[in-house]
Amino acid sequence: MVKDRVAIVTGAASGMGKAIAALLDREGAIVIATDKVMADGKGPLADNSPGVFVTLDVTRAEDWAEVAALAQARYGPPSILVNNAGILHFASLLETSPEQVRAIMDVNFMGAFLGIRTIAPFMVRERRGAIVNICSIDATKATNGVAAYASSKWALRGLTKAAAMELGPLGIRVNAVHPGGISTPMVRDGAMTDAEFDAIYHDIPLQRAGLSEEVAEAVLYLASERSSYCAGTEIVVDGGATVGTYYAQLPGYPDPR
Ligand SMILES: NC(=O)c1ccc[n+]([C@@H]2O[C@H](COP(=O)([O-])OP(=O)(O)OC[C@H]3O[C@@H](n4cnc5c(N)ncnc54)[C@H](O)[C@@H]3O)[C@@H](O)[C@H]2O)c1
Repeated sequence: MVKDRVAIVTGAASGMGKAIAALLDREGAIVIATDKVMADGKGPLADNSPGVFVTLDVTRAEDWAEVAALAQARYGPPSILVNNAGILHFASLLETSPEQVRAIMDVNFMGAFLGIRTIAPFMVRERRGAIVNICSIDATKATNGVAAYASSKWALRGLTKAAAMELGPLGIRVNAVHPGGISTPMVRDGAMTDAEFDAIYHDIPLQRAGLSEEVAEAVLYLASERSSYCAGTEIVVDGGATVGTYYAQLPGYPDPR
């Protein structure tokens, strides 16, 4: 369902972006995998893939313009954009500096805004496009320690709704994915075992952390025509974390500890 579509994925050197780019590539899309880190080789893409891995800092409008020009010149107009790049900073609200808030907003919110602002016009000309913004369950509630991050993700969720309203009539569907706790370098100490990391999530219904590949499946659905009637919607991929609290200590309930 995404075969031969030109797809741009940000933050594709690691974690979910890497898994999303790889899945779209396997499904036959022509993927322009991007990241602010110096990109070389095929990155997350298969060796024989038609796509490329290039450097794009989402906060730099000139980088976006370069990637748009590359897409148009080499492959044709992009019709899928996945705004995935993000950063996280743990700090209490009272210890978060204005500079830290600006830095997080710049990547998590402005990066996606610049992406939409640059890439959507190509989609509008074709009357065809799907944009997927990777928000977070922190865009549906609040958690202590991530005030700046959560605010940036609520802003991105708002942008998703506004963009869906404005671009829907022009043939572009804009939707969001809200991952829960996913095993990536952003949140996982490299020294932790899988069991130790999963243990953090024992009080959610699925009792484990998620995998990047599980989030990528939701992105594939929203990027493809299988979701042709979805606009401004949100898919939560969180093992049930936002459903409620699972009390494993109640008698008769499975307790993985
Ligand atoms: N891991 C989680 O539990 C979790 C949960 C909810 C939402 N998310 C969101 O999912 C997305 C992917 O996160 P991840 O967990 O895979 O993290 P990650 O740290 O593994 O990957 C993030 C990637 O974004 C890139 N990046 C950072 N700043 C950039 C910039 N200015 N321009 C371009 N690329 C930049 C990094 O180089 C990195 O490759 C992020 O938006 C994150 O906020 C993560």
